[in-house]
Amino acid sequence: MKIGIGNDHAAVDMKNEIKAYLEEKGHEVVNFGTDTSESCNYPEYGEKVGVAVAGGDVDLGVLICGTGVGISIAANKVEGVRAVVCSEPYSAKLSREHNNSNILAFGARVIGIEMAKMIVDAWLDAEFMGGKHGKRVDMIMDIEKRKLHGR
Ligand code: RB5
Repeated sequence: MKIGIGNDHAAVDMKNEIKAYLEEKGHEVVNFGTDTSESCNYPEYGEKVGVAVAGGDVDLGVLICGTGVGISIAANKVEGVRAVVCSEPYSAKLSREHNNSNILAFGARVIGIEMAKMIVDAWLDAEFMGGKHGKRVDMIMDIEKRKLHGR
C-alpha cells in the first residue's frame, strides 16, 4: 500500500520510527515532512497529506502532531478526507470498519511508540464493512457536499 505521512515539529522522531515500521511491513511511504524540530504549523502538513489522500496520490495517510488533534482537524477540511485521532487500537480498527477512515492521526506527546505501532497495525489490518455503515458514511459525505455554515 502507498501511505502518505506527515507531522509537525512535535513528532519528527515518532514519524521516522513509524515510517521505518511501515516500510518494514512492505508499504511504500511518501514523507510530506516536516523533518526538523524547528517550530512549524501543523495545518500545512495536515493539508498536504489530506490532498494526497483525497486526490488518490496515496492510498491512506498517517498524521502525527503533539496530540494528533490539530493536524487531523486540518486534514478533515479537505473534501473527501475522513481523518481520525486514535490513542488505542480498538477505535482505530472500528474507524476503518465502520467509518472508512482514510487518515489515521495520533499524538507523539500522548502515546508511546509501541502503542503507536499497535494502533497502526489495527488500522491497516481492518477493512471497511460497508452495508449500513456505508449508508452512514455516505450521510457524512453528504454533509460535506452541502457546505453548511452557521448564520
Ligand atoms: C504544537 O505545539 C502543538 O500544538 C501541536 O503539535 C498539536 O498538538 C496541535 O494540535
